[in-house]
Amino acid sequence: MNFAETILKIVNLNRYFKKIRLFFKKRSDYKYLKRHGIQTEFGYVTLYGKPIIVKHPNSKIIIDKGVTLVSDPRFNPAGITHPVTLATLNDGAEIIIHKDAGLSGSTICASTKIEIGEYVGVGANTSIFDTDFHAIDPWDRKFDNIENTKTSPIKINDFVWIGGNSIILKGVSIGNGAIIGAGSVVTKDVPELTIYGGNPAKFIKKIILKHETYNNLFDSHKE
Ligand SMILES: CC(C)(COP(=O)(O)OP(=O)(O)OC[C@H]1O[C@@H](n2cnc3c(N)ncnc32)[C@H](O)[C@@H]1OP(=O)(O)O)[C@@H](O)C(=O)NCCC(=O)NCCS
Repeated sequence: MNFAETILKIVNLNRYFKKIRLFFKKRSDYKYLKRHGIQTEFGYVTLYGKPIIVKHPNSKIIIDKGVTLVSDPRFNPAGITHPVTLATLNDGAEIIIHKDAGLSGSTICASTKIEIGEYVGVGANTSIFDTDFHAIDPWDRKFDNIENTKTSPIKINDFVWIGGNSIILKGVSIGNGAIIGAGSVVTKDVPELTIYGGNPAKFIKKIILKHETYNNLFDSHKE
């Protein structure tokens, strides 16, 4: 065997071992998610570091194909400070993460329902809470907190991009293709194809699509 043939053999072997390593990583990620009660399929979710999953027994966490969860700061230069956290807090609570969404060090706490659309990017350290966790009235907070805590579902539609360190609060719906500026606190609905930012998040500007019509962009990715 000459030098070139030896190199080729080494390269091929390397590729082969890489494939094997990838398979075992996928298998370990899948097992981890299933062990924590996540509804998903083999190979659907890519994990960079292990997320924290706190699932109430009578609740659902569903994760679709192509989703990436980044929990290890070595895999995101934006500086994530903690692992992705997915928590369902009550009977019937739901977290649904649709196709090709990506979350970095984000926290999702659902008491009712939180839905993340396709191709949504959730920036580093963002929190999404569909509950206030605590009642407004101090008496209620001490003696009857759960009954008196306000909760309302959240829907983040397709192609939304949420800047790092933002907080999305209960009842909010964010329209297709909208952008939330870094460090925003979103308390009200955000219309599609707009940029909102600040605390509380306010309208900044409209997004003008450069290359495709609205319908092409939002229809083309559907299978
Ligand atoms: C929202 C964003 C995309 C807008 O970028 P842009 O189109 O270049 O906007 P500009 O910088 O021209 O700012 C437009 C206006 O919005 C304001 N603005 C921009 N970002 C803001 C934010 N995060 N919060 C509040 N206001 C903001 C600007 O001050 C400016 O206000 P003015 O018109 O009164 O001067 C960008 O500012 C941002 O926040 N990017 C997120 C980056 C990030 O978090 N990445 C993490 C990894 S996903």
